[in-house]
Amino acid sequence: MLTERKLKGALVGFGFISSHGHMPAYEERHLQEKDVEILAVCDVCPAREAYIPKDLKFYINYRELIANEKNNLDFVDISTHAADHFQIAKLALENGLHVLCEKPLTTTTKEAYELLQLAFDSKLVLFPCHNYKHAPVINAIRELIQSNKIGKVNAVTLNTFRNTHAIGTKEWKPNWRRFKKYSGGGIAMDHGSHSLYLAFEWLGGYPKSVTASSFNLSKEKFDTEDNFSAVYEFENGVANIHLSWTAGVRKVLYTIQGDNGAITVDDDQLQLATWKIDELDKKIKWNIENYNISSSWFDASHTTWFNKMFSSFKHAIVNNDFQNNEIVDAYFCISSITKAYESIENNSNKIILDKTFPLNF
Ligand SMILES: NC(=O)c1ccc[n+]([C@@H]2O[C@H](COP(=O)([O-])OP(=O)(O)OC[C@H]3O[C@@H](n4cnc5c(N)ncnc54)[C@H](O)[C@@H]3O)[C@@H](O)[C@H]2O)c1
Repeated sequence: MLTERKLKGALVGFGFISSHGHMPAYEERHLQEKDVEILAVCDVCPAREAYIPKDLKFYINYRELIANEKNNLDFVDISTHAADHFQIAKLALENGLHVLCEKPLTTTTKEAYELLQLAFDSKLVLFPCHNYKHAPVINAIRELIQSNKIGKVNAVTLNTFRNTHAIGTKEWKPNWRRFKKYSGGGIAMDHGSHSLYLAFEWLGGYPKSVTASSFNLSKEKFDTEDNFSAVYEFENGVANIHLSWTAGVRKVLYTIQGDNGAITVDDDQLQLATWKIDELDKKIKWNIENYNISSSWFDASHTTWFNKMFSSFKHAIVNNDFQNNEIVDAYFCISSITKAYESIENNSNKIILDKTFPLNF
């Protein structure tokens, strides 16, 4: 029984997020909850072996790792650059292994569809690292929305500001995010999933159209965008998403706007504003509450959010939840990003999105 023994895993791609985010979280979990153990690591870059814990096996070829270790493993955790996620996840699923995969799950909708179909048919869990869902300030937003404090949510804005693209490990290709052949796209492909799955949750559905534009302020060096703006229309409202790698600051600024109030988030600062008409003088009465919810936004490894996410992955495995909501969100993240690129290629025309999930549940 899986519930009674440790889940055994291997990491593929051992760069920044894997060595600073995933591995420390697994080590902590191995000691505290004792329900996971990492047996092997793979990275194409032999120099990365120096950073793995001593007792782990190291491979430079993920095909070899899967062939040699598949009978000892329950899952593979993929943290390579985005363009390789598909082929690694596909091989892991074909060999009977559950998959935890960094965002974006794939760089095309066709690949996402193929992986989801394979996971459902094979009765294996395919799970995206949608870790922002587990940031403490995001948990606080969820509670406020669920307690109906601001009424029905009708609009959200998600601004993500960075002073640069994230720099990958120096031993491989630190600027891979700026080359489409490795990344599949710029900041929209790299960060768009985080903004989109939060928007899906806050607006309670998937978008029906998108209008987008993008800029590349480093055209002479790189072929992916560093600034992206999009308006996504939903059945219940609208999401404005703005992402920048040239913002001169590292920050998230989110607003969640409802019929009776709004939530404004500036990193750890959360403001809840609500209003009502006073029955006596018929004037608007505001109530403003300010909270500081420490969420470690500046630590790009987000290692403290990892284990809540891993618990959801484990829950899906133990409960045979192959058709979990997270993977449906991942599918719609990819389709929403690629449709935004289609809008950009067509002079920012409005593009209609298909909200129907294409697989049979
Ligand atoms: N969820 C988050 O908050 C978050 C944060 C950072 C990065 N990420 C995601 O993690 C992934 C990796 O990003 P990073 O910043 O760690 O990049 P990175 O460049 O630091 O690490 C990538 C590693 O993959 C290795 N690699 C490349 N191709 C490989 C292959 N075919 N097989 C095995 N190893 C291979 C490279 O040698 C490198 O060590 C990306 O998908 C990125 O979007 C997610």
